[in-house]
Amino acid sequence: MIRVAIDGPAGVGKSSTSKALARHFSFAYLDTGAMYRACAWWCLANGIDLDAEQVDEREVTEMVGELFTGDHFDITVDPDDSRVLIDGRDISDEIRSAEVSSHVSKVSGVIPVRHVLIAAQRAVMAREAAADSFSGGRGVVAEGRDITTVVAPDAEVRVLMTAREEVRQARRSGQSVASAVGADDVAARDKADAKVTSFMTAADGVVTLDNSDMDFDQTLDALIKLVDDAI
Ligand code: C5P
Repeated sequence: MIRVAIDGPAGVGKSSTSKALARHFSFAYLDTGAMYRACAWWCLANGIDLDAEQVDEREVTEMVGELFTGDHFDITVDPDDSRVLIDGRDISDEIRSAEVSSHVSKVSGVIPVRHVLIAAQRAVMAREAAADSFSGGRGVVAEGRDITTVVAPDAEVRVLMTAREEVRQARRSGQSVASAVGADDVAARDKADAKVTSFMTAADGVVTLDNSDMDFDQTLDALIKLVDDAI
């Protein structure tokens, strides 16, 4: 059983390489950012004011608590088809909108919200690492901002992916153009996110992978080698 924890800032290529890594080993794939995005989407859909400089933390916490009570929320862990569903409605595309991207840090900055999501993420990782899971029980790749440090500090493989800011900005705008998801102020989001999570420097025992001068395949190869070494 292998758990792979991958953290890093926005635009470093975590999602695409993590998915490819999971596919390579037939592991499950957990996109924790999608969970925070779903919470922001849910708050916006329910009329919560996320534009305020200081959001109403109690209101946001209650709203997210409601989402994670019962079976309202679902996230699939197939790296070829990772979807987010609320009450059966597929919101996987909507959570990538500029509207959600620009508000998500307001929600992820609320500490009780993080506690709810961290517990949910640990449960998914434990389930997927268990014997009769989606992938045949061999492992799970989880990516985000606090996986190596908080969600799964005991993961068998822990990686911090980094790249120079201008490289990340270029990758993100390339993605936006290609998928027409709209502008995403990566630098502003990282700045806000860095107040509550530590993903700019590697914690003890975490391998740093700076892919500024690496292409997709080279990054994937480096990740595959790290997992191979742990198996
Ligand atoms: O990874 P992605 O860019 O989709 O993440 C969206 C947002 O979710 C981040 O900007 C951050 O605010 C939040 N996030 C987090 N902790 C994680 C993953 C994402 O706070 N583990």
